Amino acid sequence: MIRTAPPGTLGGHTAGQLLRLCEAAGLGGADATGYARTLTAALGPAAGRSLDLPPPTRSFLSDDHTPVEFSISFAAGAAPTLRVLLEPGSGVGGLAQSGRDGLRVVRELARRWDFATDRLDELEDLFFPPSPQGPLALWCALELRSGGVPKVKVYLNPAASGAARAAETVREALRRLGHRQAFTALPEADRLLFFALDLGDWEEPRVKVYTAHHGLSAAAAGGLSRMVGGPDPAGIEAFFRAAAGIGDDQDTLLDRRPVQACHAFTETATGLPGGFTLYVPVRDYIGHDGEALDRTVALLRRHGIDPAQLLGSLAAVTSRRLEEGAGLIAYLALAHQRGRPPRVMVYLSSEAYRVRPPAVPSPRAEAVH
Ligand code: TRP
Repeated sequence: MIRTAPPGTLGGHTAGQLLRLCEAAGLGGADATGYARTLTAALGPAAGRSLDLPPPTRSFLSDDHTPVEFSISFAAGAAPTLRVLLEPGSGVGGLAQSGRDGLRVVRELARRWDFATDRLDELEDLFFPPSPQGPLALWCALELRSGGVPKVKVYLNPAASGAARAAETVREALRRLGHRQAFTALPEADRLLFFALDLGDWEEPRVKVYTAHHGLSAAAAGGLSRMVGGPDPAGIEAFFRAAAGIGDDQDTLLDRRPVQACHAFTETATGLPGGFTLYVPVRDYIGHDGEALDRTVALLRRHGIDPAQLLGSLAAVTSRRLEEGAGLIAYLALAHQRGRPPRVMVYLSSEAYRVRPPAVPSPRAEAVH
């Protein structure tokens, strides 16, 4: 088993980032080392691959194809949570192989931390057909709690049996998990992107459906949530404008990369979602990451959150100047979950392979005429 990979390799680079992020998050050294080893092991043999070589696959997980992305979830008055998203086996060997690696890695984690995978097992035939299609087979995210036992999330591909079957696949998966009415509750969308499951030690494990929305306006974003007792449309609209850099007097559509929405289902009685998250791909609507950071800090402050850990976390991931690239901050998200305070999430790219150059001049999304 790979324990640590040397610097200058995919595993060494991402584990180093993770260790520094854990330190910025105040996690203890033993927890951090354990999480870094888990990451390295989950990436598989490609962890030992030199960063002088091209990425092991054209992973959809990040723009430069690093099979790892970090994120931090902030809520007012609580300690932020550090998370890492990864593609098991680094996605090597094609989608069918990646699916097998993904299931194997998740089941190993389940044995190690003693959680059940039955909800995933029930869906295996839907998401792992013999000739899978689409941009991924399985991704896994870990919420890095103190104590060394993470909470686990698994992301599956609705288009595994073809994009034309995605709606049917998601409907059937929801049905099998007892969420019979859930599919009809979802908003109209351009694409079903992920089907996600919480596994492990969650108070209220969620089933989540991610939808992509092209050319979205602030007003349309405000109308996306189907969550019962959910967020006020004006709050979602304000977040969308602040994240995308759209003034109150502008009617701008985000047409460079789709905005994502996620509806989370926990109880099966009503079939209605108990959670809603909006993801804005801020990296496509800035000139450089300095602007992305300014927007992020403003958003955090608006939600009553101290940005200190974010600043330390950026330094943990990169030593480049923020003005030198556009893409370190990949997404900004606002999450609402029934009975909990809202959270702001910031997604940080590893940039193991490439820094996307800044856009010149500073881009503006096209205004509607
Ligand atoms: N890289 C893909 C994208 O940008 C998938 C992805 C990674 C993603 N992290 C995400 C999508 C966070 C939504 C939110 O779309």
